[in-house]
Amino acid sequence: MATSNVVSAAYIVSAVFFVLSLAGLSKHESAKEGNAFGVTGMVIALGATIWLTLSRSPHALSTLLLIALAMAIGAAIGLWRARKVEMTQMPELVAMLHSFVGLAAVLVGINSHLVVGDTSDTIHSVEVFLGVFIGAVTLTGSIVAFLKLSARIKSTPLMLPARHWLNLAALVVSALLLGWFIQSHSIVPLLLMTAIALAFGWHLVASIGGGDMPVVVSMLNSYSGWAAAAAGFMLGNDLLIVTGALVGASGAILSYIMCKAMNRSFVSVIAGGFGQTVVVGEDKDYGEHREVTAEGVAELLRDASSVIITPGYGMAVAQAQYPVAELTKRLRDRGVDVRFGIHPVAGRLPGHMNVLLAEAKVPYDIVLEMDEVNDDFPSTDVVLVIGANDTVNPAAAEDPTSPIAGMPVLQVWNAKDVIVFKRSMATGYAGVQNPLFFRENSQMLFGDAKDRVTDILTAL
Ligand code: TAP
Repeated sequence: MATSNVVSAAYIVSAVFFVLSLAGLSKHESAKEGNAFGVTGMVIALGATIWLTLSRSPHALSTLLLIALAMAIGAAIGLWRARKVEMTQMPELVAMLHSFVGLAAVLVGINSHLVVGDTSDTIHSVEVFLGVFIGAVTLTGSIVAFLKLSARIKSTPLMLPARHWLNLAALVVSALLLGWFIQSHSIVPLLLMTAIALAFGWHLVASIGGGDMPVVVSMLNSYSGWAAAAAGFMLGNDLLIVTGALVGASGAILSYIMCKAMNRSFVSVIAGGFGQTVVVGEDKDYGEHREVTAEGVAELLRDASSVIITPGYGMAVAQAQYPVAELTKRLRDRGVDVRFGIHPVAGRLPGHMNVLLAEAKVPYDIVLEMDEVNDDFPSTDVVLVIGANDTVNPAAAEDPTSPIAGMPVLQVWNAKDVIVFKRSMATGYAGVQNPLFFRENSQMLFGDAKDRVTDILTAL
């Protein structure tokens, strides 16, 4: 009794740390603290759970050894991955981790049914059924997201005929199986539903197109939270319920914010695919693009009084944030007004560009959000588009047939001169051609963004 009281108290303290962690992570300045709070909460939670398990186990020593072995293997893999992972691979790693939460919820659910066995406890049966359903959807959905984000499969949406009916059928059949499961307590409907939910999760994410992947990642984050909360109900673990609900709710809020930022309807995105009825007219003739040299850009910058830099995924790949920060400092020392315009889904994860720029010590006050700079482009002399593509695509604003139509973008084309840093004429993540490259006021500076910015610094 005393042990479980102490453990409950420890769980409350952990929950408070997790709330503080979320609060800390919502701002640059306090993000490090937020992480520390999260780690502290997790250490307390783990310690309390291990203690509780040992106090209840008739074979405490062998239980401890098994836990230690599992933790050592998990920690070794976790440390190895965390050290090796590039910043640009973060989203795929996160997607992969979500799949583990889904798998855990499926295993906990099936195990919980087998252990509790043939009970007439309807509430427990519903918990098990829902937990396994959400877990299975999260598992395969996250695997597809991982495969798409790591470019192991194409990011174009899968378009099965009558795909919405297939999804609906999966939900209806699962609901019927729930009725059968509650009545019979047989494992057969549970396993049938698991198979359906695995296919449903796979199909749901497979039918969502490249440009909508940011929403999918945060949506799977939310699902993984609900899967953990469901596992908490099955195991009677309050902390797992609270933590799962925190992750589930914050993921849902993030998905909503992302949808708003991309002008997408939340329901259409999660119901599978947006814009795939539109034929991508890639045979269109956009005309000729113009090239410029690093010296030419240095010349332009020398005469400029206002510059906006719009970074994207390519800056992250090239790790160009350091020379970009140096260029910013040089220009500011010369009295040029330099600012950054950050698109909400630039890069491959929320806040990606902000993290890189903070790492390179670019002052926060000149790093502005899209809405804060969009009206200023007409009065800007030079815009440097560094490794961004989809987030500066005028087709989103001007071409209603474009797959990214309606997504708010940085209106860089309104500036006097636009310099686009990239290695080729290849498309961005959404696979859509960018008419910006062919505009009269645009010039392409080809090559690795880090090398080219360094060349400009030398020329300056
Ligand atoms: P993207 O549209 O992905 O384009 C990046 C560009 O960078 C590419 O066109 C590429 O062209 C260039 N590039 C790559 N490596 C480079 C290098 N070493 N040096 C110079 N350029 C390089 O970038 P964006 O504008 O940031 O848009 C983000 C896209 O990712 C959006 O479609 C968004 O929906 C999606 N997405 C975002 C997230 C989140 S949460 N932010 C998550 C998943 C997906 P070259 O190959 O010709 O060099």
